[in-house]
Amino acid sequence: MNMTVQGPGALRVACLSLVLCAACAGGLARFEGTPIKRGAVVSENALATRVGLAILDRGGNAADAAVATAMALCVVYPQAGNLGGGGFAILANADGKNLALDFRERAPLSTAAELYLDDQGVFDRQLSIQGPLAVGVPGSPLGLWELHQVAGSGRLSWSQLLDPAITLAREGFAVDPWLARDLRRTTVAGRMNAAARAVFYPGGEPLGVGQMLRQPALARTLSLLASEGPRGFYGGPVAEALVAELGRAHSGVEGAMRGVIDAADLALYEVQQRPPLVGYFGGREWIAMPPPSSGGLVILQVLAILDGLPLGSEVAGARAAGVTDGLGERLVHWLIEALRMAFADRAEHMGDPEFHEVPVELLLSPAWIAERRVSITDRAQPEIGPWVPAPVESSQTTHLSVLDRAGNAVSLTTTLNGWFGSGILVEEGGFFLNNELDDFAIQAGVPNQFGLVGSEANSIQPGKRPLSSMSPTVVRDAGGSVRLVIGSPGGPRIITATLQVALRLFLLEQELGAAIRAPRLHQQWSPAETLFEARGTLSFLPSVLAGLRERGQPIEEVEGSFGSVQAIFVTADGEIRASSDPRRGGSAGIEGRGISAPALPPN
Ligand code: GLY
Repeated sequence: MNMTVQGPGALRVACLSLVLCAACAGGLARFEGTPIKRGAVVSENALATRVGLAILDRGGNAADAAVATAMALCVVYPQAGNLGGGGFAILANADGKNLALDFRERAPLSTAAELYLDDQGVFDRQLSIQGPLAVGVPGSPLGLWELHQVAGSGRLSWSQLLDPAITLAREGFAVDPWLARDLRRTTVAGRMNAAARAVFYPGGEPLGVGQMLRQPALARTLSLLASEGPRGFYGGPVAEALVAELGRAHSGVEGAMRGVIDAADLALYEVQQRPPLVGYFGGREWIAMPPPSSGGLVILQVLAILDGLPLGSEVAGARAAGVTDGLGERLVHWLIEALRMAFADRAEHMGDPEFHEVPVELLLSPAWIAERRVSITDRAQPEIGPWVPAPVESSQTTHLSVLDRAGNAVSLTTTLNGWFGSGILVEEGGFFLNNELDDFAIQAGVPNQFGLVGSEANSIQPGKRPLSSMSPTVVRDAGGSVRLVIGSPGGPRIITATLQVALRLFLLEQELGAAIRAPRLHQQWSPAETLFEARGTLSFLPSVLAGLRERGQPIEEVEGSFGSVQAIFVTADGEIRASSDPRRGGSAGIEGRGISAPALPPN
């Protein structure tokens, strides 16, 4: 597997009308693929998917549709869709240019690690999960603006892209079963501030299925953003309301407003255009998110480690032995070992590249990869060391994938971190604020809410972006045509879910729906156990699990589900397949074909 890392580092966005720069261009020079017959949008909410599809129908391109879909998610999917959070997008243009857009939240300029310690000097995790110290400077409004500026078609204005979201916020929509379920979570209800409770728990009860949710304050914020651009969010009344809300939330916390976002933090927020990471696996070009996400690096490392192993004969052998999908226990063992090594690198080396030099080229170098590959034996090699509790099941964040008829793709993942973020709703703004600062390794070696352990590379510092697992990914074929647009929510399980679906598509040659429905595993180096989804018939074969145990693999079957993959796949003859993971309530839409019915929550 060859790896290229495009360009030296981040390109600061200096000019909003910038076109995709030459330094961001993909390595492929041939763009002669079969024309795509229809565009598609996939997201975690049917109303949002419908909004994106309507933008494609009106002549918008993939970037236009992605902006409109993301804005609609802010309204209809407040669990994770957001103005008060951040995210990443991979853009893969029909002309072969690629770009990574980083609109990750930043730590406030007055932050300091000691603000998160209790009287004994021990890290108090609650402070990075709820309350004002949990909140990073939001990146989504500026990120979506820049997505439109950099890659929009020019046929639809910024405000036209926000109109559907404004209408949904002002006129309301019927609460769906997933929102109703998530509002019933006790951890969510307990975190909500008074403003949030007034909107989502009228009369003290969570909104139920079918009740109308109108969000006039959010409609006003979106209207200001539509008419003023990012100034309408990062300055003026919305910014004042945001800072005031944090002040209210801060009452009772020691240290006045130290460590909390102020007007200067908002005014100074910047989006970064970054050269994406590019790797080659199976004769295809994989375009992935660079740091401060760990997603692209981990995915490309695992693919590179696997690439030197006899995968084809392993799949054929497993099928001959009766494992119909071809994912036999030795291949699963290799995957687990490769994940263990890549996640160990994540913990040690990865963080915000503006603050810590992430050795990207080293981590993807043939020597580094080969060393890891040859260290894989027939036996499991879990790290010896302090045992870390298994991560709390979590499935926050949201992903949307778009492909237009011209062949432009946008893969966009965005997050508030926890469900509804910090639970702090800006009363006059009508939007939730994130709790993204929990993604820092505030005290090295202590796990965050996902059980992830980090080092100095991901320590908290003023203005720094916390390390992420978000993995928006696009795969091009040898001719340069986009074949896959993919991503997922799910904390660190974003990485493993995205990777496994892509491997099932390209290595096992499964059809998209089957690849998404198939059971998943999750391994993140610490803890040593690999978790396996156990969902009735959608579980790994007992013979596979038995074989892994014989190899010494610590494994645990869990009833929860891992991630929620939103993907678009293009067949060799240009047919579009689009699928939203039935683990959650999303919907896939294809131009001229309408949208798929969302799955219902279990029980
Ligand atoms: N907050 C989830 C992530 O960034 O990975």
